[in-house]
Amino acid sequence: MERRVFIKNIGFTKVLLLAKSSILIWLGSCQKDSLERVNPRMPNNTNTDNNQNDNNPTSENNVTADAFVHPLPFPELVASTATLTAQETLASLIDNDANQKVLGYQGNGIMGPTFSVDAQTQIHATLKNELVEPTNIHWHGLIVPQNMDGHPEDVIQSGSSYTYTFKLNQRAGTYWYHPHPHRFTPKQVHLGLGGFFIIRDAEEEKLKLPQGTQELLLNIQDKRLLNNELSYQPTPHDIMFGYIGQHLCVNGKYKPYHNVSADYYRIRILNGSNALIYHLKLSNGLPFYIIGSDCGLIDKPMTTTAITLSPAERVDVIVDFTSITLGNSFYLINDLENVAGQGNPMFENRLTEILKFNVIKKQTKNWSLPAQLSVLERINTDDAVKTRRFEISTHHGMFGSLRINGKQFNPNIVDVQVAANSIEIWEFDNRTGMMPHPMHIHGVHFQIVARNGGRNKIQPSETGWKDTVLVNQGENVKVAIRFGSNVGKFVFHCHNLEHENEGMMLQYEIVA
Ligand code: C2O
Ligand code: CU
Ligand code: CU
Repeated sequence: MERRVFIKNIGFTKVLLLAKSSILIWLGSCQKDSLERVNPRMPNNTNTDNNQNDNNPTSENNVTADAFVHPLPFPELVASTATLTAQETLASLIDNDANQKVLGYQGNGIMGPTFSVDAQTQIHATLKNELVEPTNIHWHGLIVPQNMDGHPEDVIQSGSSYTYTFKLNQRAGTYWYHPHPHRFTPKQVHLGLGGFFIIRDAEEEKLKLPQGTQELLLNIQDKRLLNNELSYQPTPHDIMFGYIGQHLCVNGKYKPYHNVSADYYRIRILNGSNALIYHLKLSNGLPFYIIGSDCGLIDKPMTTTAITLSPAERVDVIVDFTSITLGNSFYLINDLENVAGQGNPMFENRLTEILKFNVIKKQTKNWSLPAQLSVLERINTDDAVKTRRFEISTHHGMFGSLRINGKQFNPNIVDVQVAANSIEIWEFDNRTGMMPHPMHIHGVHFQIVARNGGRNKIQPSETGWKDTVLVNQGENVKVAIRFGSNVGKFVFHCHNLEHENEGMMLQYEIVA
């Protein structure tokens, strides 16, 4: 690969270390007794060959010695037509015995199938509700008519079914779907409902990105198990700060491994967690070449060694394993150790392995990363017809404070009206807040135009089209939104699902 040519085009990310505020210390200490301690941080690896060498790119330092013995599972693929049967079923989250009660969109397995379809495809997805409570499906990141969007009030009752039909009209990207019935979303997501929705198109095809076994989809979720059972029983504390689990799972499996070749991989990562914010790295220090964000390719690859990913965000990366000696292993890790203020302060294991890669095969063919991925049209902020400010700082007292502009979700109120096919600037203001809020807007894609305060800059993983943006405490983030022509009522909310469920969600209407 022409590494030097490529390096010229990339920017390095600097993570601003935020001072630990006293509130974070307080959050950290009051968490200790309320969570099951399942995987305490272990002393360093017993592998003495590698232990000391911080600079060796293939060393296995910084990881614990626990075995990752279960293969990483991948959901089944479906195309334009599928039946998703929401049901209680069994899955093997932590070993090979299907002994945890979960929710799935099929029998015998958590999550649902991965849609893998071309742009412009007509979709027919039938949801059968075999749960004892209402559910629905929101197609996160897809631009669909409002009656297909899974509005929180638009639910399918227990025993009923509904067919979502819509024609895709957007670029390739890593999208996803999950339930969104008001008052049941966090529980149904934590217990297992959700899946990937991958759109492919000709622009992406031309790049000849790694595919087949060299394209991996990872849905990272923290699950809470109590007495070996997946459980969703939030305490008032969980509702305030988000429901955090101690078992980091990928595609519904705790501590999985994946055998790879010494080759290039395309890895699409979804943070499918209710509330946990990840700070992802590779344990051997290899970089991620970011090629896409929530809604498809970015202009040019961006190099970084750490990616902050908040709930519902996606990132599309290329990793280069060609330098790794056969027989070596390394991990995708969550490293919250040095990011006070970014990660969730309540997560006890500040440095945790998520997924083990074993390099067991030689490279099969040469490939190099294209310098130009796409040509992104930049929204011209001068075209914005309106700027709106949304206060999301939570300083109204400890409880009942999860609000946007002091308001909580009311299905009977339209909080914001916007004109179809217009451009607006929305500003999410968390400058005096105490908690991070990943803000998501239904029915649109947007571009981040500024972040002031806190991290003070747009991250490499945030440069393209987005539908969710992390607004940390101390930050004010401005996004430029292009509203489409699907008139009707949609919602926008914090994607910390406990916050959303408590009402940190408003309603907006696109009017002709
Ligand atoms: Cu992914 Cu309204 O949510
Ligand atoms: Cu959405
Ligand atoms: Cu929030």
